[in-house]
Amino acid sequence: MIESFFNIPNIDFYLVIGILFFFCLLETFYGHWHQSKRKKSDWIQELGGYAVLGIFIKPLLVMTVLWVGHFLFPSGQGFLSGNSIFFNLLLYLFIDDFLQYWYHRLAHEKPFLWKLHRPHHQAEEMGFFVSYRNAMLYYFLMPNIWWVGFITFLGGGKAVALGLVLKQLIIVSSHSTVKYDAALYQNKLLQPFILVWERIFITPAFHHAHHGKSRRDGISDPNGNFGNMFSIWDQLFGTATFSHQFPTKYGLENDPKETWKAAYFYPFIKSKKIESELHKDFQKNPTKSNKPILVDVLQGEKYLWCKCGRSKNQPFCDSSHHGTSHKPVLFEAQKSRKLRLCNCKLTKNPPYCDDSHKTI
Ligand code: FES
Repeated sequence: MIESFFNIPNIDFYLVIGILFFFCLLETFYGHWHQSKRKKSDWIQELGGYAVLGIFIKPLLVMTVLWVGHFLFPSGQGFLSGNSIFFNLLLYLFIDDFLQYWYHRLAHEKPFLWKLHRPHHQAEEMGFFVSYRNAMLYYFLMPNIWWVGFITFLGGGKAVALGLVLKQLIIVSSHSTVKYDAALYQNKLLQPFILVWERIFITPAFHHAHHGKSRRDGISDPNGNFGNMFSIWDQLFGTATFSHQFPTKYGLENDPKETWKAAYFYPFIKSKKIESELHKDFQKNPTKSNKPILVDVLQGEKYLWCKCGRSKNQPFCDSSHHGTSHKPVLFEAQKSRKLRLCNCKLTKNPPYCDDSHKTI
């Protein structure tokens, strides 16, 4: 029955639009659109990004794979078509999500990919449409879209259609401002369900933490929680944080707010703002001094110690670690006093200096 349902032409497209529409209605019903501070450039990036991806980029990449496969590997065509739709669905989803976990993680750890992905993190509000704001080139390089073409060529087209709908449900709900899991964490009866569910699937709390502005709030982890549909990869590769709470601030610290043109068309159009990562001359320079720095801290205050060595506000983090594999170290001052913090970044007892700089 499911197979014949997914025989209906373009049914996956209509269902995906239906899911977006449903979350749009939910967010409107709860008054989130009314309070939204979204600007015109946010709308252009989100609506425009979605339209170009769906109408142009995805069909182009999938058709390219089908065309190349047809000419170069004709014997592979339909190789999976004898399998059940559920087998092909699992095959599609697990490979897709594994690829996306690593692509997304590298987009946070490699400078060039980070510049293509950072528009996604410039959003200062969550919402069902936020998932679609990335630079155009980000989508051309996305391995999942190529994988959709490949598995469709192998005969898994119906499984892909079903998988895209399921993925969309998880992705849109995890970006939405309607947080279905928030009430479940508070409800004693339903809590066991959400605690098991979050170990398999991405929840709003898990993904909102990824969009939080800074680790300083003790909830956000902008350099973790990279999963897309399943949280298993984050747990397996040590990047998962389950805080069960929601950040109060979203977006990027020290964001120079580029135009939508620079954000969407980078590297073909660069930012004119010299302080922007998308400016042609922008560079992150390592700290010049290795000597420890004495700082005054206040009891009960939380601080982020810079681990990457690129902050201009040493020894504290200024978010320059985006595009590297480092993340800052959060610590709370137990008393108001002076602390000797590491600046060579070699200490084995971060954030404190352990004299490792003397070995350089
Ligand atoms: S600037 Fe954040 S860790 Fe260095």
